[in-house]
Amino acid sequence: MQQNSTAKEQILFLIGFMGCGKSTLGKKMAKQMEYTFVDLDDCLVKKAGMSINQYFEKYGESAFRALEKEVLQSLAGKSRLIVATGGGTPCFYDNMEWMNSSGKTLYIQLSPRTLASRLSQGEASKRPLIKDKSAEELLNFITETLQQRERYYLQAQVIVDGLQYNPKQLIEKVNQHFSL
Ligand code: S3P
Repeated sequence: MQQNSTAKEQILFLIGFMGCGKSTLGKKMAKQMEYTFVDLDDCLVKKAGMSINQYFEKYGESAFRALEKEVLQSLAGKSRLIVATGGGTPCFYDNMEWMNSSGKTLYIQLSPRTLASRLSQGEASKRPLIKDKSAEELLNFITETLQQRERYYLQAQVIVDGLQYNPKQLIEKVNQHFSL
């Protein structure tokens, strides 16, 4: 229990749809807060020994989700981390509940249109769920998937409008809310 409550003060999970800025913001926040930045997708690639596209192709999405859960939960008990999760991480298994009880959670919220415009600027090719979509298919996919996923994302302890905060303001908000 003791280890759990320490981690609770010291891991911040950034959650949100692909393209919302989890990694970019997370890196900047970690630098300013002197936390270690962890990208869950990068951990997964390291563990799998292949890219996410290759993993999806070879083993399929459910195997990916199982590995994602394993990599996420391997962070238990770690401290002073900012973790950029994958866009789907909170929506599978009990991951959202697990993150809420193992650390702090922050949802970076953006509209489907903003996400689509970011993802269409060369950000889609590494992402198996969207890599072959036209602009119209991409916007439809984001709109539908976000609708299904928001019930998980909205369980985050803090929710911010991704267009309104720069990293410095986000840190202030996080500090105010969590007293990190
Ligand atoms: C996914 C998001 C990706 C990556 C994988 C699946 C998703 O992470 O985990 O391609 O289901 O939304 P990013 O949100 O970092 O792109």
